[in-house]
Amino acid sequence: MGRKKIGIMVSGRGSNMQAIIDASRDPDYPARVELVISNREDAPALEKARKENIKAKFIPGIGRDWERKTLDLINEKEIELLCLAGFMRVLSPEFLAQAPPVMNIHPSLLPAFPGLNAQKQALEHGVKVSGCTVHFVDSGVDSGPIILQDAVEVKQDDDEEKLAGRILKTEHKLYPRAVELWARDQLEIEGRKVKIKEEKGRG
Ligand code: GRF
Repeated sequence: MGRKKIGIMVSGRGSNMQAIIDASRDPDYPARVELVISNREDAPALEKARKENIKAKFIPGIGRDWERKTLDLINEKEIELLCLAGFMRVLSPEFLAQAPPVMNIHPSLLPAFPGLNAQKQALEHGVKVSGCTVHFVDSGVDSGPIILQDAVEVKQDDDEEKLAGRILKTEHKLYPRAVELWARDQLEIEGRKVKIKEEKGRG
């Protein structure tokens, strides 16, 4: 079976994008990154992707027009899964209805602390444990069905940067794993719940 073609949407640094690219170097990894799309021309992620010889495109504009151009490119490249990785825009229900499945990674244990500055929200709330979540994207903000989560201890002397750094390390393991589960057809969505099925026919 061929590897699934994935597209990654970014707005910034792209360390999660890089983690997925790195995972896909393993010939057994069931997906490969075919396309990177940014809504920001200066996103360092674009340069990182180009270094890996991956088509990386800045698409200017906003709203419906931006989404239509983006969908055209996704269709042209026959992308089967979209991964949002530090992508700082909310996609419209119309876009989501026409796009392949979309995943996102968020630096908290959802449904706690959705939206911006999740690590700061966690520190201000005084939680002892935070972490990260990979979820399918629906039309809300960080509200779709949860695929995987990993917990990270919040330490007494943490500031936003320290906590974000430790969470980021776990993100880099969790996101490639979630993509792998999807690409091996091991995810089953039942309403809000995502079940992880046994892997069939390997080995
Ligand atoms: C990560 O913390 C991710 O969870 C959040 O935005 C950040 C993106 O970082 N959605 P990077 O661009 O992947 O390095």
